Formats: sequence, C-alpha cells, structure tokens
Amino acid sequence: MDEGQRLHRTLSWPHLIALGVGAIVGTGIYTLIGVGAERAGPAVIIAFIVAGLVCVCAALAYAELATLMPVSGSAYTYSYAVLGEGTAWVIGWSLVLEYSVVCAAVAVGWSGYAVGFLQAAGFDMPRALAAGPHAGGIVNLPAIAIVAAVTGMLLVGTRESATLNIILVVLKLGALAAFVVLALPAFETGNFEPFMPYGFASHEVDGQSRGVMAAAAIIFFAFYGFDAVSTAAEETKNPARDLKIGIVGSMVVCTLVYMGVAAAAVGALPFTEFSQSGEPLAHVLRSVGHPGVATFIGAVAVVALPTVILAFMFGQSRIFFVMARDRMLPAGLGRVNAKGTPVAVTIGTAIVVSAIAGFFPLAEIAELANAGTLAAFVAVGLCLIVLRVRRPDLPRQFRAPMPWVVGTVAILGCIYLFVSLPESTQWRFLIWNMIGVAVYLAYGARKSRLAGQ
Ligand code: ALA
Repeated sequence: MDEGQRLHRTLSWPHLIALGVGAIVGTGIYTLIGVGAERAGPAVIIAFIVAGLVCVCAALAYAELATLMPVSGSAYTYSYAVLGEGTAWVIGWSLVLEYSVVCAAVAVGWSGYAVGFLQAAGFDMPRALAAGPHAGGIVNLPAIAIVAAVTGMLLVGTRESATLNIILVVLKLGALAAFVVLALPAFETGNFEPFMPYGFASHEVDGQSRGVMAAAAIIFFAFYGFDAVSTAAEETKNPARDLKIGIVGSMVVCTLVYMGVAAAAVGALPFTEFSQSGEPLAHVLRSVGHPGVATFIGAVAVVALPTVILAFMFGQSRIFFVMARDRMLPAGLGRVNAKGTPVAVTIGTAIVVSAIAGFFPLAEIAELANAGTLAAFVAVGLCLIVLRVRRPDLPRQFRAPMPWVVGTVAILGCIYLFVSLPESTQWRFLIWNMIGVAVYLAYGARKSRLAGQ
C-alpha cells in the first residue's frame, strides 16, 4: 500500500461515541417520527421498538466484526473477508447507496427545520426555492446548501470535524431532553386511542403505506449510523477498546432517548396533528404552548443535524477508499490528500447527494437509504454466524452475546423490514444493484486484487 493510500490514526472512543451518536440522532427522530406516526398511528412506538431491536442485534454483530477486523470499510470489508469478493461488491455497492442517500435525506430533513426556523424569525423563504417539484416547489435550495457546507468541513480534515462534532452532539441530545420534559406534562392517554388504527403488517391504503411494519421500515432510518463508527476503524488509536465502546455505547444512548421522545410526542398531541409537519417536534411544542423552546429545538436541529451528513459523507469516502484499495474501483478514487481526506470522492459524492436532496421527497429518499442499509445488515449478521462456525478459535476482543440469536434476529429482522418497504423502493434497490453487478463484471471482476493474483 503506498503512503497516499493510508489513513492517519487520530481518533479515540469519545470521538467515536460522538461520531456514532452524531450519525444516529438526526432526521429519523427529528422528522421521520411524523411519517412513522402517519403510517402506524400511536403504535409508532411499537415501530420504534421493532426497528430498535433489529438494530441492537446488528450493532452487536458489527461490534464483534469491527474489533476483529479493525480496518476501514464496514460491512463491505467483513463480507470481503468472510463471504467472498462478489458478495462484498454487492454489499459495498449497497453501502454506497446507503451513505449517499442518507446524506440527501438528512439534508431534506434539515431544510424542513431551517425553513421553519427562518419563518419563526419572520423570514418566509419562497416555496419555489424551499421544496422539490413533488411538494409544489422547484428546488430545495437549503438542502443543497447544507451539503455544500458539510463537504467544505470534510475537506478541512477529519480531526477538526470530529471535535466540533462532540459539541454539536451534546446540543442535539439536550434539545431532545428538553422536548421530553416539556411535552410530557401535556400527556393524555386519549391520544393513544385507537392505538393501532392501521394494523400491524405493512400494506397500501389508497397508494399510501400503512401499518406498524410500514412505519418500522421507515423509522429504521432513525437507528443506524453506528456503522459509521466502524468505517473509522483505521483512524482509531486503540481499535479493540474504542470501537466496542463507540458502537454499543452510541446505540444504547440513542435507543433510550428515542423511546422517551416517541412516547412524549404521541402522548402530547393526536398523531394526525403533527404527522404531516416538516418539523414535527417543534410543531408539537408550539401546539402545547412552548413556542420559545420550539424555536430552540429548530435552531438545534439546524446547527446539529449536519453532523449526521458529516458522519455519512465521511463513511462514504472510506467505503470508496477501501473498494479502490482492493482495486474493485479505479485507484484514483482511493487517493487521499495530506489531511487524509479523499478529495475526488468527497466532491463527487457531494454533487450526487445535492442532486437527490434538491429534487426528491424525504420519505422516498429515506426508504431507499434503508434498503441499502438493510442489505448491509443482513450481510453483517451472516458474517457473524459464518465466522463463529468457521473460525471459532479467532481471538475476539468483543464477543456478541448469544451469537446465534443475535445473528438470526439481525438477518430475519432486516429481511422482514425490507419486505415491509414499498414495492417501488424494493424495485429501485434491485435496479441499483443490477447496475452494480454490471459495473463489477465490466471492471472489478477483471481488475481486482483477487483477479490480479
Ligand atoms: N439515523 C440517522 C438519522 O436519523 C441516519 O438521521
């Protein structure tokens, strides 16, 4: 490996927990909670539990694999080592989809809060420039602007961005805590009735996804991001200890916080009153008589949601970096600058992400990101089990408890969530992967390190 293809070790576990929580807490809890409530009614709380359970299992599998293979590349790397090059390509290609599309979804969620915040401050952004064509606008300019800003941060260098991230994460969690404290006094049990108006399984009503599982399939978005921690493995000072604490710790913190926020939101207001809002948490607080704190939550979302984009753009560039290092993609994509940032990939990703964020609706973008992530999580569950069977002797720094149960719940749970996504999303995901297989056959299968041996 030449010097231009090695990353610097500058991160330790506080950075990783911050990177994890920074990547996890975002548009999922701040905005998609509304979409989830629209699909499941008050039973959106169950959707949070289902998605959280699957993600905790996936996180445990990640932690074991990430400490066993502390190199960049996340699920792609584990699949490469355990399931072979072809499967690894499909997973890497799915991760490329996940990471880019997540950035676009969060940028759109950010835009919802930014526009609401500006409105509260007396500045109405023209609709034509604040939403894509699907919502009666022309282009979502704030979403594009935030992608450009985060790209600039990344180009400045990892260390600076990760430290700033810690401060923003504290703000983000503080705002959610304030939400729970102020929404809980407005709690009315009547808001929970009927609890499950659309039933459990995912189904379509007048072209709209409905049911607890339809909600879980989108709420899943709120939980992932801990995998972004494992993409930083090669830049971690003490991988065995730091990755374990980083992945499991950030997951536990977020799951607890979400339960509180979901219960407080649904209890405070009939779900139909906030489900359509572009800034549901601020909307709930305004409705229960706390306009000042609602504006504060909007401000925090505006300042802190970009950490999610930051973490996923960081992860995205690392996936490309490792795939290029394995010569599955052209080597130029793996070049890093003196600060350790792969410039070409970062800028290329930003352009694609901006195009998606500027013109497409949030729910559809988030669902597509979920499809890519679910594929990666299935692979991680499989890798956990296969490796336990094939190489029980490997010295594991972190052992997932009950690996058969954890691996099986991760695999089957993710498959169930995948089939609960709208059919259109499943098709988009398949088409993306068919393009991926064509690229692999045309390039990676002939040029990769394995092919070259
Ligand atoms: N979990 C991240 C979010 O909710 C992707 O924004």
